[in-house]
Amino acid sequence: MSVASYLEKNKDRFLQELFDLLRIPSVSADPKFKQDVVAAAHFVKEAMEKAGADTVEICETAGYPIVYGEKMIDPALPTVLVYGHYDVQPADPYELWDSPPFEPVLKKTAIHPEGAIFARGAADDKGQFYMHIKAFEAMMATGALPCNVKFMIEGEEEIGSDNLDTFVLANKERLRADVILISDTHMIGMQDPSITVGLRGMAYMEVEVTGSNRDLHSGTYGGAVANPINVLCKMIASLKDENEHITIPGFYEKVQELSAAQRQRLNEAPFDLSEYKGKLDIQDVHGEKGYSTIERVGIRPTLDVNGIWGGYTGEGAKTVLPSKAYAKISMRLVPDQDWHEIATLFENHFKAIAPSSVTVKVKAHHGGAPAVVSDSSLGYQAAEAAMEETFGKRPIPTREGGSIPIVALFQKELGSDPILFGFGLDTDALHSPNEHYGVKNYLIGIETIAAFFRHFSVAHGK
Ligand code: BES
Ligand code: MN
Ligand code: MN
Repeated sequence: MSVASYLEKNKDRFLQELFDLLRIPSVSADPKFKQDVVAAAHFVKEAMEKAGADTVEICETAGYPIVYGEKMIDPALPTVLVYGHYDVQPADPYELWDSPPFEPVLKKTAIHPEGAIFARGAADDKGQFYMHIKAFEAMMATGALPCNVKFMIEGEEEIGSDNLDTFVLANKERLRADVILISDTHMIGMQDPSITVGLRGMAYMEVEVTGSNRDLHSGTYGGAVANPINVLCKMIASLKDENEHITIPGFYEKVQELSAAQRQRLNEAPFDLSEYKGKLDIQDVHGEKGYSTIERVGIRPTLDVNGIWGGYTGEGAKTVLPSKAYAKISMRLVPDQDWHEIATLFENHFKAIAPSSVTVKVKAHHGGAPAVVSDSSLGYQAAEAAMEETFGKRPIPTREGGSIPIVALFQKELGSDPILFGFGLDTDALHSPNEHYGVKNYLIGIETIAAFFRHFSVAHGK
């Protein structure tokens, strides 16, 4: 039986199994879900075993475990290492979901007329890494597995993969592979397949601004004592100028500028600005002067406030000068910015611009390096050939704005280029209410992964 007919025969079960995984609320950021995150690790372990992996192990870390499994069929054959994450983002705000985030349902949409799976983690990343387990099962069951396989599925990606470095460094030999496959990114569209070759890095900061030692009556003191919320807003506003250029001294020092030819190539990717605006219900885009939307997310760094709080936000009105104000601020970085350096630049600058009427605390949460991967490696070529086979169109390389910090770590420590073999779409609502993943994306992903194994083993035999 071919992989394609095995897939056709088993697709309902493949969907049901993913639904079972999606029912586990494995939110790594919130300790309330601790048992569920661990339960998801066990689910993944069992799924690997059932699919035919030999050695499957729950590897404890200082945080959530990494599930490792492998099937070594012949040391002479090439080895594929699959990375993914079983943890998900918090589902908040729950009231904005049309159906409960951990009760997956199938619904048709304009973009997914065949149906999409709605649940937290459907696209990021449960639906995507599970494709690899199912592709592996299909290859095992049909006698078509042409490479050795190793799986490393972690549970802390959404909180910065803090314990993955230690695991990778301690297991370099075990993780040795000829290529690393990661399905945790987007394509341009079903009609426009693409392979991600660039991701941004990240420096995630939290700031606290304190005025007086207690909340004050805003009449008795207002206008005479600093309001830390007003001050914080002003400070944040000053971090970008009228051209949306970041004003932190030294911020752009290490940013690699692309050549005119490289920029032109990026901008040749299919992109429809009015469709982009339409899907987001915005009148206009907003970003750094002198760069297109593709460039603003793909090759330029940025700074965003993710949350800001302080003072009275309850019902009705309360007249108060709060004592403290807070914000969570992230910076997306591009090659060759170093997140530790950027975090220090931010901290020094933020303290320097604070008026003497307040005190400021700055803390770095987590960060990660940006990455650019080759678009000519054997792995890339196999991925290109596989997509061309299943989509009927040659994929193009793109750079995305999201971050997968471990990509740079894998390049450095494991010495092989990861292939960012993602099958999602940018409309999948990752990290948002109503996250979903197309059924067709899921199924074509499984088929394309199996095709990758075939092309990669052939390329290696040459
Ligand atoms: N899968 C995403 C990264 C991603 C999304 C890359 C879309 C390309 C396109 C990943 O799970 C993620 O959300 N990463 C975080 C970074 C992490 C350090 C919290 C991100 O990008 O915010
Ligand atoms: Mn992800
Ligand atoms: Mn994510």
